[in-house]
Amino acid sequence: MTSPLTSTLEPIGESRPGAEWWRTAVIYQIYPRSFADANGDGIGDLSGITAHLDDLAALGVDAVWLSPFYRSPQKDAGYDVADYCDVDPLFGTLADFDDMLARAHAHGIRVIVDLVPNHSSDQHGWFQEALAAAPGSAARARYMFRDGQGTDGELPPNNWESVFGGPAWTRVPDGQWYLHLFDSTQPDFDWANPEVQEEFRRILRFWLDRGVDGFRVDVAHGLVKTDGLPDHLPAVDADSMGGADEDVPYWGQEGVHEIYRDWNRVLAEYDGDRALCAEAWLPTVDRTALWVRPDEMHQAFNFPYLTTGWDAAELREVISESLRAFPAVGAPATWVLSNHDVVRHASRLALTAENPQGHGIGPDSPGQPIPEVGLRRARAATTVMLALPGSAYLYQGEELGLPEVIDLPADTRQDPTWFRTDGERYGRDGCRVPIPWVGDAPAYGFSPSGASWLPQPAEWAELARSAQEDDPESTLWLYRTVLAYRRAHELGAGALEWLTGFGDEVIAFRNGDVTVVANLGTAPVTLPAGTLLVASEDFDGAHLPADTTVWLTAD
Ligand code: NOJ
Ligand code: CA
Repeated sequence: MTSPLTSTLEPIGESRPGAEWWRTAVIYQIYPRSFADANGDGIGDLSGITAHLDDLAALGVDAVWLSPFYRSPQKDAGYDVADYCDVDPLFGTLADFDDMLARAHAHGIRVIVDLVPNHSSDQHGWFQEALAAAPGSAARARYMFRDGQGTDGELPPNNWESVFGGPAWTRVPDGQWYLHLFDSTQPDFDWANPEVQEEFRRILRFWLDRGVDGFRVDVAHGLVKTDGLPDHLPAVDADSMGGADEDVPYWGQEGVHEIYRDWNRVLAEYDGDRALCAEAWLPTVDRTALWVRPDEMHQAFNFPYLTTGWDAAELREVISESLRAFPAVGAPATWVLSNHDVVRHASRLALTAENPQGHGIGPDSPGQPIPEVGLRRARAATTVMLALPGSAYLYQGEELGLPEVIDLPADTRQDPTWFRTDGERYGRDGCRVPIPWVGDAPAYGFSPSGASWLPQPAEWAELARSAQEDDPESTLWLYRTVLAYRRAHELGAGALEWLTGFGDEVIAFRNGDVTVVANLGTAPVTLPAGTLLVASEDFDGAHLPADTTVWLTAD
């Protein structure tokens, strides 16, 4: 394999209509509490991120997205925000944020922050005011308070269930109920209320003024609920966030689009091609594309792609649909295989039983993945993904080939899903374990004190970045190489042309001068002529083995 090329710095702050940075960017998700801990309390922080920006520049990513670091009681790892315009002391200070942002920009790395508009924390000033205020008051009208059913209002207003399990309503002492699509500590805002709308414009401007390059918008399909809040029960095997379920009265309602048109105008007040990326779990690529029409958001996570299994025909279909549906509305296709809510793809792609999103896996879950198969498929899958036109998201640790941690002791688990289902669903802790930097250091270099908010497996010493840095066979080396060639061959801005004749279990396409062949079957595949740029596994150069992807250029 050829050694990685050096990345070039892109100008930040310029507007380039039609060639905006987010159309082609590779964006690396940092989950701050598990990335790097500078002060030794066992929880990652902003200074830890700053200290590792050079590693991210060396990896070759264009931008980072940070999961929430705002003031929060951390009941849902920061997705329960008590103050949207301040940093939680757990992660540092606003000055630490400004420092991190300036240094990221100096490295040519853009920074996207997470915006959580569907709900706040129950510790948010507004919710505390609402609890102290009377039913029917203006303070209550910022959230979804309702009277209950039954003779004394003792039954919840409807039958909705929380995404994390259990009822979506909690009763307050005066008898009213409030809606929380997630944990009971995460009350939903009422987005029909102009005060809520104005507050979020202020929050957007607060971070835009500080210089952020955009926002990943949490639960972007959930803000508006059907009038009258009609009963609905999700299908038994539905993904927690909506996924394959059609016509859910709290997902994908038409009214959300007006909110994003409004935010689009707010972002347009600023220079530098600021972007909004929708976290919207919708059943199809076509539905997802509605979030990125020209006057709405700029990107939407491609969850139909993420949830596609290791199957050539299904992958071809979702890739084709994505490259039709997103460009049809003027948006780039996006690609993603892992994040902090799903089983890491180095395990997921080898699962042999259904595993709805959000349920996670534990030691007794059916269809346990074989680690070697999972890693091999993950490397092959990423080598396909990073050759696709559009923008791609990576999740911290996937560049090390980290698997899901399946055997976390029960008393260390922290995901509200685990508690709200009495352990029936393991939830998402297994993909959130702090990442290993140095094989022989305390907490593998995650924390100087050796503390780690979730325990790290013993096997992770050999997956640490230090152990992979100089190993051309390593997953880290593969990611660096693929990212460098993606940039050098401008694949993000390219176009895909399918190649046929390799059989049903093969994915083959050309993007510019790069030919990509991925063997998802079991029999070796004879490769066309060409010079090998990169391969996801070592092989004889002529016969592509199972679960392997190559990039070739013309001789
Ligand atoms: C989606 C986030 O990615 C997830 O981690 C969180 O629990 C829910 N939204 C609620 O905010
Ligand atoms: Ca810390």
